[in-house]
Amino acid sequence: MSVLELRQVHRTHGTGATIVHALRGIDLVVRTGELVAVMGPSGSGKSTLLNLAGGLDSPTSGEVVVDGTVLGSCSRKALAALRRRKIGYVFQDLNLLPSLTAAENVALPLDLDGVRGSRKQALDALSEVDLNGYGDRFPDEMSGGQQQRVAIARALIGERTLVLADEPTGALDSQTGEAVLRLLRSKVDAGAAGMLVTHDARHAAWADRVVFLRDGRVVDTSGPLDQPEELLRAP
Ligand SMILES: Nc1ncnc2c1ncn2[C@@H]1O[C@H](COP(=O)(O)OP(=O)(O)O)[C@@H](O)[C@H]1O
Ligand SMILES: [Mg+2]
Repeated sequence: MSVLELRQVHRTHGTGATIVHALRGIDLVVRTGELVAVMGPSGSGKSTLLNLAGGLDSPTSGEVVVDGTVLGSCSRKALAALRRRKIGYVFQDLNLLPSLTAAENVALPLDLDGVRGSRKQALDALSEVDLNGYGDRFPDEMSGGQQQRVAIARALIGERTLVLADEPTGALDSQTGEAVLRLLRSKVDAGAAGMLVTHDARHAAWADRVVFLRDGRVVDTSGPLDQPEELLRAP
């Protein structure tokens, strides 16, 4: 089943001489059980693509469909609920709330929906990212890598059908980075769909498919990579 569908998506910023074409006609489908890696140079539109897929930004033209819902046709309230319930997002800059503990940050999307037992689910999610016993720490009492894992636990908690991650392993050592990819992979294998922005070919190797962006266009896609380095050198 297609979980995410982008149909002829364009996104421009500004007008006239200073117009920036962040995305120029993207068609993309991500299905249940599929993890897609997005690669490309800085400024190629990777974060814009993820923000549109997550309903955090809207296309200038074209459609974004998540789980059968055209995001552009939703009210703001419906979109917020859909994001909270169905979409897990790991931001480049984490976006943890500093006044909430790790467990409270992770439980937040569930709490906003009045889900019972959210603390236990949050603590379980934290132990999955190897943060047993860290539930009551505040973000500023944790290292960058630990904070990143809290953000990942928050994105994977609950019944998310679409998990989006923008360079989620930035602040992590390579061993923890691999562990995060393994978590993302198993969430997808358990019935979600995923999209991962990464610069690291070893991380892209966890994906079923790599979409390569340049200047807001898909210039190449590939299946599972035998030689991921080849793609990074692609024109
Ligand atoms: N809010 C914005 N206003 C103006 N230009 C933007 C904005 N967001 C992104 N851009 C531009 O759109 C292009 C794509 O950006 P982005 O999606 O962040 O690329 P990437 O994540 O691949 O580095 C870049 O040229 C960037 O400068
Ligand atoms: Mg980016």
